[in-house]
Amino acid sequence: MSDNWWREAVIYQVYPRSFADGNGDGMGDLEGVRSRIPYLARLGVDAIWLSPFYASPQHDAGYDVSDYRAVDERFGTLEDFDAMMAAAHEAGIRIIVDLVPNHTSSEHEWFTAALAAEPGSPERARYHFRDVDPGRPEAPPNNWQSIFGGPAWTKTPDGRQWYLHLFDSSQPDLNWDNPEVHAEFESVLRFWLDRGVDGFRIDVAHGMVKADGLPDTGGDGSIEMIGTTHAPFFDQDGVHEIYRRWRPIIEQYEGDRIFVAEAWTDSPERRALYLRPDELHQAFNFDLVLAPFAAADFRKAIDAEIANNAGIGAPSTWVLSNHDVQRHVTRYGDGETGLGRARAATQLLLALPGVVYVYQGEELGLNEVLDLPDEVREDPTFHRTGGEQIGRDGCRVPLPWKTEGPSLGFGDKAPWLPQPQDWAGKSAQSQDGVQGSMLEFYRTAIALRKSHKATGLTWLEDPGENAFAFDNGALVCVTNFGQDPVSLDGYEGEVLLSSTDLQDGRLPGGATVWFEK
Ligand code: GLC
Repeated sequence: MSDNWWREAVIYQVYPRSFADGNGDGMGDLEGVRSRIPYLARLGVDAIWLSPFYASPQHDAGYDVSDYRAVDERFGTLEDFDAMMAAAHEAGIRIIVDLVPNHTSSEHEWFTAALAAEPGSPERARYHFRDVDPGRPEAPPNNWQSIFGGPAWTKTPDGRQWYLHLFDSSQPDLNWDNPEVHAEFESVLRFWLDRGVDGFRIDVAHGMVKADGLPDTGGDGSIEMIGTTHAPFFDQDGVHEIYRRWRPIIEQYEGDRIFVAEAWTDSPERRALYLRPDELHQAFNFDLVLAPFAAADFRKAIDAEIANNAGIGAPSTWVLSNHDVQRHVTRYGDGETGLGRARAATQLLLALPGVVYVYQGEELGLNEVLDLPDEVREDPTFHRTGGEQIGRDGCRVPLPWKTEGPSLGFGDKAPWLPQPQDWAGKSAQSQDGVQGSMLEFYRTAIALRKSHKATGLTWLEDPGENAFAFDNGALVCVTNFGQDPVSLDGYEGEVLLSSTDLQDGRLPGGATVWFEK
């Protein structure tokens, strides 16, 4: 594999509980991932990012870790992890694991010890505890609200102190002013690097450092994760010190291993700071997750990302969907319109210079499941807002692999979230080898991206009002975001790939075409 593979890779996100169930308990696992490595190799991805599979009470689907060095028994064992990673490496696929350093589970031994210890103890100093004010016993230390809804502070069982949790009350925030916390995570990094992982996706990478004195945030204190609002607990300058300590650690290991940041910032300039040469390698660009399907919005996001990252030599990192946001087929209007636009957007992304992340199931054209019954929903967002916010379960429904069976080939038993009836027709089996299917489209597009490596981006004259075109050094990409077909007269070269059939040589609405140069 080439050096600096991570500057141009296609990386596939596996959400383990919903990918494939190897042991027949209705929940996906590492054996399920291992068994599907040939599928991922055939898709052509360079690496897999696995969402957390660590020991966890699963109050936030594993983003509440109780032991950073153990595999949750629902997902298998460390040996299963090794076997999965060996199969991936054998197939030339790298493994990126998730690191959750902003908070632990409340069942982590540190937090259990903290609750058992006295206020002011070293055990409590690993988290953010504050005394209850006897004059105002019901008033939390500040106005911060949990990103999942409700207050960001919960009282200890004895009622004497509050503890901070930016997410669920089962996810207490760690105190990154404490050297013990640094030492522990540096050791966790080494644990997985020694095992052979190729990198880490850093959860809430912009959240670990809080502003001095934990000052109130503006307004009513509520804040959304998916957004760019500034807050005293997000994107504080001090967070960069952590990454400057981590970079030399990963550099000690051979094999071009990487960090990718989940960092929500209020500007592309602030995001680029995480990518300075002595910090992290990639940071997801969420601008296209937030952007409507419109030429001006896409172009603005693309220009900003490329300009900011170029200055520090970092690759652009493109993403349309993940386990936290509504699937883009649905964002783009669902049905044929949504599917067509999803293809067009994917083909456009795959022509951009940089890295592309693919969220499991998007290669099958999966939609967001909007009608899950309340009683099966697990996302704390749903429960903490009393159902006001529907939450993220709809993008986490287990994948359909086959046209038949109790879980459409996901496993031997009904899956932990029910799959829609019509997903049999979206299964991998029903698309495999079928010309024009979403799955075959992804395979072809990823292969062509490899044989036509982007070296840059030069905008060409727009072919229409809500459409754009660019030359990436290897091919010309034209995307029509509008409704009406646009003329392709201005572009020469053989058609390499078109997301939908051209109409009399014109590009229909919601479509992308590549021309050979
Ligand atoms: C990140 C994860 C999300 C999780 C949250 C708390 O945003 O992507 O799924 O709920 O962090 O760990």
